[in-house]
Amino acid sequence: MLRNAWYVAAWADEIDAGPIERKILGDPVVLWRKEDGGPAAVSAFCSHRRLSLANGHVVGDRIACGYHGLEFGADGTCLNVPCQQGVPKGADIRGYPVEQRWGLVWIWMGDVARADPATIIDVPHWGTSDWGYNRGAAMTYACNYLLITDNLLDPSHVAWVHPTSFGGSSCEAVPMRTREAPDGLTVSRWIMDAPVTPFYRDLVPFSGNADRLQHYEVRYPSLAVIKAVFVPAGQGGDGLPLGPDAFVMDSYNFITPETETTSRYYWFQLRNVRPDDAALSDAMSAAVLAAFSEDLAVLNEVQRGMTAMPDLPISIATDAGPLRFRHRLNQLITAEAGH
Ligand code: FES
Ligand SMILES: [Fe+2]
Repeated sequence: MLRNAWYVAAWADEIDAGPIERKILGDPVVLWRKEDGGPAAVSAFCSHRRLSLANGHVVGDRIACGYHGLEFGADGTCLNVPCQQGVPKGADIRGYPVEQRWGLVWIWMGDVARADPATIIDVPHWGTSDWGYNRGAAMTYACNYLLITDNLLDPSHVAWVHPTSFGGSSCEAVPMRTREAPDGLTVSRWIMDAPVTPFYRDLVPFSGNADRLQHYEVRYPSLAVIKAVFVPAGQGGDGLPLGPDAFVMDSYNFITPETETTSRYYWFQLRNVRPDDAALSDAMSAAVLAAFSEDLAVLNEVQRGMTAMPDLPISIATDAGPLRFRHRLNQLITAEAGH
């Protein structure tokens, strides 16, 4: 897995009540909130008797172990051993750079010197008054994170996995366009003059058929921006300006590998209609959760099949995007390991 990258460690509000433990890229990590409100993260287990520091408590900016009170700073340095002079050698643990942004806590799992918060993904419209926001709880998938990025780069699956929500019978035949950029891959297509699919029917502010953009962009190592655009039929197409009736929903998807076979999935949406409609936000979160649960059920079963039959499966035309993404990510991982 790529270590020199920002991953989502938690929702920001998950560390409000006290320290929590998470597994990220195989590393057990404990996160807490410092006195100044900023997040902190260190390796989970105390250097003394290996009690998880999630069982401890926060003292100012430090976390104190719940067994014998050793105190650690946000960089993992052991700063106090109660009832004795000085700190023994080997008491320090690992600290991880963390940053709070977009309602999430981001963690840098690689070389501390290379952690640059400016490289955290930008989220246009976040926190602006004319865009609505909704989110759900993070989900835990029992599958490798690349099965999720494969799925995000494969919009063809919506016709089979999500027939009653995102999909529609008109989707299957329209080919995808794949574009490669230094930071990731985008597959997209315009589906022209088709009925609005069920998930979006109440959201789209016009009646009749629509031209619909499906834009699935996945960035290395495992973030996805999915755009859904609906415009009245006849107005859609690449590079054309969006008219006043256009509906836009940007879906942000952040996948954090826990282990080789489990992943955490954080998501939220931003929409350009009815920004203050809380009931709509709740309904959207529920609908997205229902649809993503359909992905989860399939991908967990795919993982089971992959584990049972580990030899290379066949590929078909719709795998072109996912395979390209995996190839490039592999190159990045190999280059990182070579340092
Ligand atoms: S186990 Fe943490 S202080 Fe003893
Ligand atoms: Fe899906």
